[in-house]
Amino acid sequence: MSSTDQGAHSVSITDVGARGSADEARPGRERRTERAAEAREHPVLTIEDFSVEYKGDRVVRAVKNVTLSLGRGEILGLAGESGCGKSTLAYGINRLLKPPAVITGGTAHFHSREGYVIDLNELSGEELRAFRWDKIAMVFQGAMNSLNPVITVQRQMEDIFSTHRPDLSRKERRTRCGDLLERVGVDRARLRSYPHELSGGMRQRVMIAMAMALDPQVMIMDEPTTALDVVVQREILREITRLRADLGFAVIFITHDLPLLLEISDRIAVMREGEIVELGDAVELYTNPQHDYTKKLLASFPSLTGERGDFIRGGTRHQDGGQA
Ligand SMILES: Nc1ncnc2c1ncn2[C@@H]1O[C@H](COP(=O)(O)OP(=O)(O)O)[C@@H](O)[C@H]1O
Ligand SMILES: [Mg+2]
Repeated sequence: MSSTDQGAHSVSITDVGARGSADEARPGRERRTERAAEAREHPVLTIEDFSVEYKGDRVVRAVKNVTLSLGRGEILGLAGESGCGKSTLAYGINRLLKPPAVITGGTAHFHSREGYVIDLNELSGEELRAFRWDKIAMVFQGAMNSLNPVITVQRQMEDIFSTHRPDLSRKERRTRCGDLLERVGVDRARLRSYPHELSGGMRQRVMIAMAMALDPQVMIMDEPTTALDVVVQREILREITRLRADLGFAVIFITHDLPLLLEISDRIAVMREGEIVELGDAVELYTNPQHDYTKKLLASFPSLTGERGDFIRGGTRHQDGGQA
């Protein structure tokens, strides 16, 4: 399969992940299994026994004793039905939860590429804020609607640098903002635009560019493409896998869309009612699911049940010819 064959109608599961950049043009299965092994040996993030409750009138145990590790440069998919606790886990890792949410147990550690370890539990205030953009960046669910409509893209992007890289000159800031936009496939002339002048896909790319601004080692993306149509979704996914290969960040990619995760993830964690019920190599999880719930979840996507283990992503059966 050529690396430009990105609009294919159907792909074999063993090829998924092998598309994108030349760097990735190796058998998907082998490469993914390698990454999964890497993840165990060189984690960038380790989460142990992590629990979160919403202590409202009724106590909701949204995340229950989750243990996960994210490998350096790995794409870890987090799958599960709406309401199973995916966003709560993501917010919890990044210490972004607000009352009535309470972290009732567990730890999260960040393992820097420079060799030090940070206990996220011990960060607070300014330290925590700096850490968030710098080391772990997040693209929130519905993020594209969170851009301020009356401020230009440029000013919103520059804010990150003014806050976190105050030594940069104005000119350097502008250059970096333009470079970032181009990195995600948006013309730098768009810096002067207001958010309402951009399509949903472009706004989402801007959010991804902003998350990448400080060269984070981890990106947590919560349903980053859910609101977009399938063609735009695919273009953005392609962009993310390409950037991951170029820049080496790791991704926790959250979505209820399991077929999509099977295409891009090295490993997948399946979450149900606050618990991770299965975690494994993406190819393995698809071909040999262990947990009954994983089997049920796979079966609930008719597009995954083609012949001979081929899988056809429902929404992309038409030619998705558009370029990124
Ligand atoms: N602010 C809140 N107060 C009470 N319960 C909440 C709150 N936010 C989320 N929940 C509950 O926590 C559970 C997990 O929600 P969430 O993390 O948003 O799931 P997902 O992202 O997988 O759709 C759900 O049962 C949801 O109703
Ligand atoms: Mg959610």
